Amino acid sequence: MIQRLLKGSIDWVDARLPVVDAFKTHMSEYYAPKNFNFWYYFGVLSMIVLVNQLVTGIWLTMFYSPTDAFASVEYIMRDVQFGWLIRYMHAVGASAFFAVVYLHMFRGLMYGSYKPPRELVWICGMLIYLALMAEGFLGYVLPWGNMSYWGAQVIISLAEAIPFQVIPFVDGDKAAAMGEALTTWVRGDYLLSDATVNKFFALHVVAIPLVLVALVVLHILALHEVGSNNPDGVEIKENLDENGIPKDGIPFHPYYTVKDLVGVVIFLMVFALVVFFFPDMGGYFLEKPNFEPANPLVTPDHIAPVWYYGPYYAMLRATTFSFIFNAKTWGMIIMGGGIAVLFVLPWLDRHPVKSIRYKGLFSKITLWLFAIFFLALGYLGTQPADNSFLGLSFTTWAQIGTFYYFIYFLVFLPFGHRFEKSKPVPTRVTGGKA
Ligand code: HEM
Repeated sequence: MIQRLLKGSIDWVDARLPVVDAFKTHMSEYYAPKNFNFWYYFGVLSMIVLVNQLVTGIWLTMFYSPTDAFASVEYIMRDVQFGWLIRYMHAVGASAFFAVVYLHMFRGLMYGSYKPPRELVWICGMLIYLALMAEGFLGYVLPWGNMSYWGAQVIISLAEAIPFQVIPFVDGDKAAAMGEALTTWVRGDYLLSDATVNKFFALHVVAIPLVLVALVVLHILALHEVGSNNPDGVEIKENLDENGIPKDGIPFHPYYTVKDLVGVVIFLMVFALVVFFFPDMGGYFLEKPNFEPANPLVTPDHIAPVWYYGPYYAMLRATTFSFIFNAKTWGMIIMGGGIAVLFVLPWLDRHPVKSIRYKGLFSKITLWLFAIFFLALGYLGTQPADNSFLGLSFTTWAQIGTFYYFIYFLVFLPFGHRFEKSKPVPTRVTGGKA
């Protein structure tokens, strides 16, 4: 009886909206390579964290007030029932989001998942990454702690470093005035104020989440159009059985829905551990100065971004030369270039082999060095620049890291295959290890 009712309801909806077809296309008849490994958990984990951010964000919005920002966050932490839990889930969720997205991107780099025919999957991913960076920054300003204030001050003042003088008939004075006008417009005031927090609140809570969700939908649609890559970098659509189904493919549902569940449960256990026992992660997730209200008269000893902006902030600070433009402008150009170069990755990588499994030693060493330098840049971005290590200042280390970052993308990826002998790529997927 219940079964008949359920089937009747589904048929009724399906006659009006093709939900069964959509389920088949994207789940039960979406054939994914059967050799997905550990690295393929991070896509679904990104989705889980996105849902966590949306749900806890909606709850925080019920009690947060941009005109009384710091006090309303204290109210959430102390008086709202389970407010502390919702806030910590949201704050830790921000760091978790970047952690899983960075691992997800690194998987793409290892297995050449951005290469044809998946260029658009990658570009949608990069747009997600940009939106995520904007979302994180806007959210960080909302509690209006002292680091929110000074972090916003540093980032918004970057608008003044935009080299407007490259526009014809705009001289240095006019360029400075344009930079100033842009900064005032972003702040919504002559100084950082409630007007800024109100504006950032609207963007953080409505505008960017809408963009993010839309981009994630496009990302998945683009992926399902061309099909998933895998650790072997073998195109499973090139080996079909008599029914046109990839021989190395298995239906996403139930096989990967069940497998992903294991990854999700383990991830949620780690997430809960951090939320309950280390919500500020020693100042890396919630920085110490942010437990004090915003104060224009007291600059924190060391203004540092949250860890996930570290690599790009380190690039900004590592740029100390001035030539035509000043160092801050060059810093912005290099930092922007560091992100821009990722967008064109599908066209920079000219290696005939997709997956790192079958590339030669040169590709393997340069990729692992890239990972080490990227992590090092991340650390350097959060530390005072005048510290030193092995006799070299942190600024010098950041310069070395930045140099390697660009050499990797602009020289090693396009030309690295000339310095090595690759292994033969199989025609069918294997059970090998990466
Ligand atoms: C909210 C953030 C994101 C979500 C929810 C998300 C979700 C997913 C999911 C569910 C998959 C399929 C499962 C998997 O391959 O792991 C996938 C694949 C992929 N994603 Fe993302 N993603 C996000 C961000 C990104 C970013 C920032 C990039 C890169 C810039 C990216 C690049 C890719 C690529 C290249 C694939 C295909 C991988 C392959 O087939 O080997 N994604 N994504």
